[in-house]
Amino acid sequence: MAAKRSIRWGILATGEIAHQFAADLPAADGAELLAVGSRELAKAEKFAGQFKIPRCYNSYDKLLADKDIDAIYVATPHPLHVENTIAALQAGKAVLCEKPFAVNAAEARRMIAAARQHRRFCMEAMWTRFLPVHVRLRELLGQGAIGQVQMLTADFGFASSPEKEDRLFNPAMAGGSLLDVGVYPIALSFMVLGPPSRIIAQACIGPTGVDERAAMIFRYGTGALALLSSAIATATPQEAILCGSEGRIRLPRPWWRGEKIILSRPDREDEVIELPIVGNGLHYEADEVARCLRKGLRQSRIMPLAETLKIARTMDRIRRQWKLSYPFESHLI
Ligand SMILES: NC(=O)c1ccc[n+]([C@@H]2O[C@H](COP(=O)([O-])OP(=O)(O)OC[C@H]3O[C@@H](n4cnc5c(N)ncnc54)[C@H](OP(=O)(O)O)[C@@H]3O)[C@@H](O)[C@H]2O)c1
Repeated sequence: MAAKRSIRWGILATGEIAHQFAADLPAADGAELLAVGSRELAKAEKFAGQFKIPRCYNSYDKLLADKDIDAIYVATPHPLHVENTIAALQAGKAVLCEKPFAVNAAEARRMIAAARQHRRFCMEAMWTRFLPVHVRLRELLGQGAIGQVQMLTADFGFASSPEKEDRLFNPAMAGGSLLDVGVYPIALSFMVLGPPSRIIAQACIGPTGVDERAAMIFRYGTGALALLSSAIATATPQEAILCGSEGRIRLPRPWWRGEKIILSRPDREDEVIELPIVGNGLHYEADEVARCLRKGLRQSRIMPLAETLKIARTMDRIRRQWKLSYPFESHLI
C-alpha cells in the first residue's frame, strides 16, 4: 500500500495557541512541522528550538515564500486573520485559520473568495468540532438518541482582566467575549440546530469598550431555542446541555474541551461515555486538514466555509443589536 502523503506545516506567529498547536502536531497523522514565522527572528528561533522545527523566518512573508510548505496555521490575533489568510492562499498554501475566522462577515467573504480564486483548501480552526466527544455527539444526534433537540444551553466564560490579557480587553484587537469565546457555543448551536431564525442578545460593555459578558437567545423554525453565553471577566460553569423530545445529553465542564458525554433517557440508567483527549486536542483538526488535502478537497465537510460565513454573519447580527463596532471597522457592521 502506498505510504500516506505527509503534510508539511508552517506556523504563522508564535503566541499562546501557536505553542499548543506545535506541541500537539506530532500526534497528528503524517504531519511534519517544517517551519515557523514570526515578526521577530529571536521569537522564531526560540519557538523553533523548543519544538525542533528545522526552518524559521523573521517575517510572515518569508514563511509563505517557502515552497516546501503545504499548509499554514494562522495563529495571529483576530483582526490579522484576514490579511494573513489571504496572503497564505495567494502564496498557494492550504490554510487552517484560528477562530474566529474573521472579525466580521465582510472579511470572511473576502477570505472565502480568495480560497476559491486560488483554488486552495481553507478552514476555520474550530478544533472542538473534531474532538472525540463532538464526533460521538454528532453520531448520537444522527441516531436520534434524544429525539428532536428542543433546547440547547451552552456557556463559555472565564475571569480575566485587562492587566492579565490585553488582547482580550482591547477593542483595537477585536477583543471581547463574543469573538473570543462566544464563537464556541455559537458554533455548537450551528452544529446541533443550524442557523437561527431569530436572535435576541444582550451584552455588558466594560470600561475598555468590549463586551465583557454576553447572553444570547436563538430561536429556530422548528420551535427549538438555544440559550448561549460568554464572558471574559466572569467564571461560568462551561457546560453544554441538549434537551430533546426523548432525552438529554450533558457535556460536563469544560464542554468545549470535553472528554465525557452523559446521556439521560426516560426509564433508563444514565449512560456515561468517556472519550479522552490526547494532548491539548489540537491535532484532531490537523488530521481533518490532512484528510481533506489527501482527498484533494478544498473544504472540510465538518467545518465548511459556508457555515463559517453564517457564524460570522450571526456574530455581526448580535453586535448590531449592541451597536458595537471595533475602531478599525469603517461603519457599524
Ligand atoms: N489562546 C488560546 O487558548 C486560543 C485558543 C483557541 C484559539 N485562539 C485564537 O488564536 C488567535 C491568537 O490567540 P493567542 O492567544 O495565541 O494570542 P497571542 O498569545 O497574543 O499571540 C498572537 C501572536 O500573533 C502575532 N502577532 C502579529 N501581529 C500582532 C500584533 N499586532 N499584536 C500581537 N500579536 C501579534 C505574535 O506572534 P509573532 O510576534 O511571533 O509574530 C503573537 O505572539 C486568536 O484569534 C484566538 O482567538 C486562541
